Amino acid sequence: IIGKIAKENGYRVYLVGGIVRDFILSKKSLDIDIIVEGDIEKIIKDYVKNRKISVYFFKEFMTATLKLENGIKFDFATARKESYEYPGAYPKVEKATIFEDLYRRDFTINTLAIEITEDRFGTLIDFFDGLKDIKEKRIKVLHQTSFIEDPIRILRALRFAGRFGYKLEKNTEKLLKLAVEEKLLQKAPTGRINLELNLTFDEENVLYILNLMDEYKVLRQIFPNCFINLEREVIIAKISEAINIYKVLFDLKIEKNSNYLMALMYHLPFDVSYFVLKKYHFDKSIKHFKYIFDFIDKFKNLPEKNIEFFKFLKTIPVEILPFSAIYFNFFEKSIEILKKEKEFKNIISGEDLKNIGIKPSPIYKKILSEIFKLYLDGKISSKKDAVDYVK
Ligand code: CTP
Repeated sequence: IIGKIAKENGYRVYLVGGIVRDFILSKKSLDIDIIVEGDIEKIIKDYVKNRKISVYFFKEFMTATLKLENGIKFDFATARKESYEYPGAYPKVEKATIFEDLYRRDFTINTLAIEITEDRFGTLIDFFDGLKDIKEKRIKVLHQTSFIEDPIRILRALRFAGRFGYKLEKNTEKLLKLAVEEKLLQKAPTGRINLELNLTFDEENVLYILNLMDEYKVLRQIFPNCFINLEREVIIAKISEAINIYKVLFDLKIEKNSNYLMALMYHLPFDVSYFVLKKYHFDKSIKHFKYIFDFIDKFKNLPEKNIEFFKFLKTIPVEILPFSAIYFNFFEKSIEILKKEKEFKNIISGEDLKNIGIKPSPIYKKILSEIFKLYLDGKISSKKDAVDYVK
């Protein structure tokens, strides 16, 4: 429909960016980015007429976002050129052709487009040999000054290389190394580094990407004296696994940030980590770091009795549980105890106490916690044991 409206108005429209790359790689993509050579306001107004669609226009950036009722989101942008006032700045934009729009992009694998204008629907546009670079698995910049214009691309290059298992093309690698040597990342807005790190922590191959960041000496520019040695590598790998296991088994809502940040800064004193977290706007993680430092003695001398361990486990903020459990070596124990907590509902409940003939009162809580203690120690292992004990 959008292609039809475009044709009627003499405009041209294209799918661009990640969705085209991911389509070629047969991967799912959540973002649908559309570039318009023409007036996006006109196209969108015609499109949303008589339809239940929310529209948000961002005139300054010549973009708009459409949200359909089924949750699908389209990002529209007018074909444009961008210029950067200083390295890493948010870009200034002006109208341009699709060629210029694709030419301003970071890597060739991100320059593919598929035209969706009616009559040309489905035509693949590949001005910069992006298809070849996808096939040959390489990350290649379009410009010698790509990393200078936008140093965030240093992080993006390594993130894409890690995500797809691609190599940096020779010249790109040279330019990236130069940009790192020049410490260009320090000129990028810290909010953009925050966003990029968030995306990195959300990647499936987070360890591989962090390893690349270490290899190319980027990691240490963000996290003081941070190197991925064997110890840290094992910790990060185990944290990734722990995050998944806690989620799958216990449905714990774990944000990844604090865990990976802690894994990258456990060697630093709290005040240095605090400075880094503040600088890159990870304010929410500060209290998680503080918790670990405040209770470091407890973590180093974990309670031996099951019930005491259980109580301590319950006081740890769930957001930092994976790191704590791995670093202080109580992951298996935590799984065992949390499983028991989950199973306990089938061992005995208030309903059972009622059936035994005990009137509902605060004593229920006391009885249940007494039985839970015995259950944790393996002294009670079935409903029958529990009911007999109560009787
Ligand atoms: N882009 C760029 N320079 C940047 C950020 C983005 O040139 N610093 C370009 C890229 O070419 C990209 C497009 O803007 O294709 C959209 O950016 P983004 O949504 O971040 O890229 P995706 O490729 O969709 O990444 P992801 O798969 O991680 O969503």
